[in-house]
Amino acid sequence: MDSTTILSPSILSSDFLHLGETVGMLEDSKADWIHLDVMDGVFVPNISFGFQVIKDIARVATKPLDVHLMIVDPDRYIPVLEECGAEYACVHYEACTHLNRTLQNIHAHGMKAGVALNPHTPVSAIEYIAQYADMVLIMSVNPGFGGQHFIENTVRKVAETKALLERTGSRALIEVDGGVTAENAKALVAAGADALVAGSAVMSSPDPKAMIDRLKSLR
Ligand code: DX5
Ligand code: ZN
Repeated sequence: MDSTTILSPSILSSDFLHLGETVGMLEDSKADWIHLDVMDGVFVPNISFGFQVIKDIARVATKPLDVHLMIVDPDRYIPVLEECGAEYACVHYEACTHLNRTLQNIHAHGMKAGVALNPHTPVSAIEYIAQYADMVLIMSVNPGFGGQHFIENTVRKVAETKALLERTGSRALIEVDGGVTAENAKALVAAGADALVAGSAVMSSPDPKAMIDRLKSLR
């Protein structure tokens, strides 16, 4: 990746006892966005944190909040997410029966709309929604946990997504989430990724800020 690639560190693997310090570190770093993973224990087998935590982060964060909703029926929470001041509301293709309506709902609440695809979901699933999306999030692990192993065929999937976006005239950004490291970041950007989420690569590093610098300066 180079400095133009958006880096969106996820706080999921950080120490929640020191959340304020983590957000301060991200604010003071070269991170572009802050990635916030909301999990409901139904769509994914884990529960992370809810909207009060996002509201509290929003009070001190100036960087755009990139909210990844791993929840069923996300429409119920779009109004509260607007109150949180989120820039992106990203919902899962697999969790939305009426995805077109959900994206309209997100836009009506003044946010940018993202569509996330699980690793097994083909790129063709977004053929008729890409033009309405501001971001397509390609999962490179099965959602639910930080610190998992990167699924290698994601690089090919990113290239396929890029081709679909060009063909459909979509201007959506491509974000990749899961198992991103300094080792696989370059291949993802070369394949067409515009934004990379990095959770444990940053938060489990002895020097998270230095890791952010490293990810932002890869060539
Ligand atoms: C996983 C989440 C990710 C997670 C990434 O379900 O969507 O955003 O925090 O963590 P790493 O980078 O450790 O895979
Ligand atoms: Zn995520």
